[in-house]
Amino acid sequence: MQASTAVRTDHAWPTDDPTRVPYWVYSDEEVYALEQQRLFQGPTWNFLGLEAEIPNPGDYKTTFVGEAPIILLRRMDGGINALMNRCEHKGALICYKPRGNVRELTCVYHNWVYNLDGKLTGVAFRKGVGGKGGVDADFDTNNHNLVRLRVDTYRGLIFGSFSQETPPFRDYLGAELLASIDRVFIKPLKVLGYHSQVLPNNWKLYAENNKDSYHASLLHVFHNTFGVVRPNMGGGIKLSDNGWHHLSYTVRTPPNDDATGREQVRSLKDQYKLNDVTMMEHKLELGDLVTNSIQTIFPNLVVQQILNCLAVRQLVPRGVDRSELFWTVLGFEDDTPEMLELRLSANNLVGPAGFISMEDGCVGGFVQRATKARPDDLSVMPMGGRAIEPSEGSRVTEAAVRGFWKGWRECMKL
Ligand SMILES: [Fe+2]
Repeated sequence: MQASTAVRTDHAWPTDDPTRVPYWVYSDEEVYALEQQRLFQGPTWNFLGLEAEIPNPGDYKTTFVGEAPIILLRRMDGGINALMNRCEHKGALICYKPRGNVRELTCVYHNWVYNLDGKLTGVAFRKGVGGKGGVDADFDTNNHNLVRLRVDTYRGLIFGSFSQETPPFRDYLGAELLASIDRVFIKPLKVLGYHSQVLPNNWKLYAENNKDSYHASLLHVFHNTFGVVRPNMGGGIKLSDNGWHHLSYTVRTPPNDDATGREQVRSLKDQYKLNDVTMMEHKLELGDLVTNSIQTIFPNLVVQQILNCLAVRQLVPRGVDRSELFWTVLGFEDDTPEMLELRLSANNLVGPAGFISMEDGCVGGFVQRATKARPDDLSVMPMGGRAIEPSEGSRVTEAAVRGFWKGWRECMKL
């Protein structure tokens, strides 16, 4: 049998140096199992979906917290519930479609029925048939309700937590990074569409990739060539006080905008021209000149503004060496047809085949393939020193990646 992953029994962190991380974090099955319990079901708020995805009573979507399947639904009273998508009888999935509308939740396996609060309301053949069979008189349905997560919302984003101790979402993220969400989600959101892609790597390699603004102008040649992100542009990194969450942003110099407020981002290199430049138009709509804003909310969400391309990305682990990334492409409810067209055009920049994001879909796999053979060796992240702190004016820092590992270790108790 071929061993594809390393298994360790000793998970002691090998160093106090915040710039070093052992490679076993990406390939160790025990660590992966421990993450489900201590991190995804631990003191974290995990992104579940958007209010705009479940506008009407009974609307639901299925999603995940780590590997745990979740039903996110709109109650009849307008509130939001997040229930574990697992029948309390034999553990079968209850909802197996991506989304729908229901009045109650019925498991197909043995027809156990739950209301939208997850309360068990019906057990098929409870009293048996013809006086025979059925459950004992002391069987109490109250002991078999669906597992219900805590839910918190912010500006149309919905988060769930298995933990009763985690502070409310606003305190979890902190005022400065809440303001970064406020900056982008200035109006009611509209879902324009979805992408999803399977990544050939551990989920944390993509989580790190988002925190690592240093790679953007190097790996993403399109970024650098057409000037969405260049190392010499203004911007910086913000971090939450605990280092867990981050924002990386890039600001262009004041443009020679025409009367429409649109500017075409021009090529750094004269030999590279786009035949269709519409996707590079940037209509200033948020009151600033930020071209690129990537915000992470630990552990599984990215809030993205690249020019007029707004999206959230939800990261779901699918085994120790696989993950799945769900992109929800967004606009605002009151977008004009022209604005919608611009957003759809700009959307060629991102997603699985996006001009500035396709490399992220494979580079994590390069690390996965190259690191599993010597799991006790360490990576090094020296950019920006050892600190886990914000950086104004420079994005050539790995501070946010170090912050990710600080958060990960605090959750994992490693
Ligand atoms: Fe990237």
